[in-house]
Amino acid sequence: MVHVVEEPTALLRELASFFVTKANEAIAAHGDFNVALSGGNSPKKLYELLASAELSSQVAWDKVNFFFGDERLLPADSPDSNALMVRKALFEPLQIPENQIFQVNTTLPPAQAAQDYAERIQAQFSSADAVFDLVLLGLGDDAHTASLFPGTSVLEEQAAGVKEVYLEQKQVYRITLTAPLINKAKAIAFLVYGASKATAVQQVLEGEKDTHTYPAQLIKGNVHWFLDKEAASLLKK
Ligand code: 6PG
Repeated sequence: MVHVVEEPTALLRELASFFVTKANEAIAAHGDFNVALSGGNSPKKLYELLASAELSSQVAWDKVNFFFGDERLLPADSPDSNALMVRKALFEPLQIPENQIFQVNTTLPPAQAAQDYAERIQAQFSSADAVFDLVLLGLGDDAHTASLFPGTSVLEEQAAGVKEVYLEQKQVYRITLTAPLINKAKAIAFLVYGASKATAVQQVLEGEKDTHTYPAQLIKGNVHWFLDKEAASLLKK
């Protein structure tokens, strides 16, 4: 489902409302809410909105377990750390205790960090089947999502899990949920705004099927796209 909202502030409010609804549905159904958060720049304001006085009272935060869809393999205090961004925008204002935060151990070597994270995710889910209630995703202007980048071998992964990805250009490792693990989620929400994303949005949603070039096409299931008018501007429908 594609939700196009005139401008970013209203878009963030609509996604925040969706997040609250999904959280309360999950908590009512099975007593907790397991959510994988996206990183980068776009979601920072969403997290700040969720932590605001207006919205923070609408969720039983003590029932929420926070995971990450991907992470840069950098020191936890690096300005490029997704976990650090979320800690400042959401966890600290809401005083989320450490036992509800499941972040990648970036002190480990790449393959070990991926394996360790996969094990910790699996251990958190009572059923043998790790299933997130919600996965939040962004979209790069190259149509990547999480750390599923064009031309990387992780795009071929058929197993639900966690993998390390080496980005030659940036000379940095990333840790990412694989597309099959993301796709098991009960709900998936993309947050994409700004004109710079319009081409990628059109390619992913209406372009030729080519998951190697447009990795976000791998994401399937109960998928909701939250787009502002600019990001949706090239869509034909
Ligand atoms: C990351 C994200 C990544 C992000 C896109 C969009 O670690 O960077 O997980 O997939 O969502 O790159 O990033 P922006 O929101 O900064 O444009």
